[in-house]
Amino acid sequence: MKRSRLFLAAAVIGAVVLVVAISSLAPKPASTGLLEPDDVQVTTLGRQVYAMHCAACHGAKLEGQPNWRQRDAQGRLPAPPHDASGHTWHHPDETLFRITKVGVAKAANLASYESSMPAYEGVLTDAEIVAALSWIKAQWPVSIRAQHDELNRSSSRQR
Ligand code: HEC
Repeated sequence: MKRSRLFLAAAVIGAVVLVVAISSLAPKPASTGLLEPDDVQVTTLGRQVYAMHCAACHGAKLEGQPNWRQRDAQGRLPAPPHDASGHTWHHPDETLFRITKVGVAKAANLASYESSMPAYEGVLTDAEIVAALSWIKAQWPVSIRAQHDELNRSSSRQR
């Protein structure tokens, strides 16, 4: 091989390595945790999962059940709204994922806590859980989403 060709090949390889290195280092500003509210493929799946598995209790419009702060006769809480009026956005991604996957008692480490929130392990895949929660987040107003992003950042710094 001629020297000039060799030089060209080395330059091309160098450029490719550089591009790959830069793109893997660059922060992805849209994503601050597990959830992908800006990924349309994820939220499209999430909308379907939510409608099939969550809406019956949490409401088609994320409105939750009436009087959701008051425990029922068995001492259980009704389903809270997942919109800005609820407290879903007060929890980081990891916690929301754990609550949905293993249920409230296990997620909160309260063995005897009785809850009507089902555990979706074995029912939904991890990707489907992430999708449903991503769709929920995609419905929040920009300011709530920003606060939730910040919560994710500070909770991952603590870990
Ligand atoms: C059978 C009714 C029911 C269904 C269906 C249901 N939930 Fe719940 N969910 C609840 C109840 C009740 C609570 C409150 C639990 C408690 O605090 O004891 C809850 C709480 C939650 C919380 C915690 C919210 C917070 O602010 O603390 C999340 C997250 C959640 N549900 C997500 C989901 C997702 C995602 C689905 C669908 C995959 C789903 N739920 C389906 C009843 C339900």
